This record gives sequence, structure tokens and C-alpha cells, in this order.
Amino acid sequence: METGKVKITVIPNGPLQVESSEIELIKTDGTSQTKKGKLYFCRCGHSKNKPFCDGSHNSEGFKG
Ligand code: FES
Repeated sequence: METGKVKITVIPNGPLQVESSEIELIKTDGTSQTKKGKLYFCRCGHSKNKPFCDGSHNSEGFKG
């Protein structure tokens, strides 16, 4: 993937897929972590590992 480019894909009935060569995630406690590649963020509200998707959207029957 091109440096600096961010690609966000809405997965049908699932999470947001965020893809970039560098992703800085700042957590609620102010600490941050840097990742690269693909991250999946919950948009159904049922994940037990927010802000990440843990697959709970499947068992909860999330549509969107
Ligand atoms: S979108 Fe996957 S757990 Fe919420």
C-alpha cells in the first residue's frame, strides 16, 4: 500500500477495516500504539475488546 494512504472499508454486517502502512491508535488512557497493515474496528457495539472487533457481530446478528 502507498505510504501515507489510508483505506477504510465498511465490511457488510461487520467491522470497519482500516488499512495503512502506519496506523497510530491513541487509547482512552492517552497511551498509543503504532500498527501497520489491517486493523478491524467494531461498529456493532458488542465487542469485548473495543475498539477492536472480536467477531461478536456474528453471534449478535448485527446488520448494517
Ligand atoms: S463489529 Fe465485530 S464485534 Fe462489533
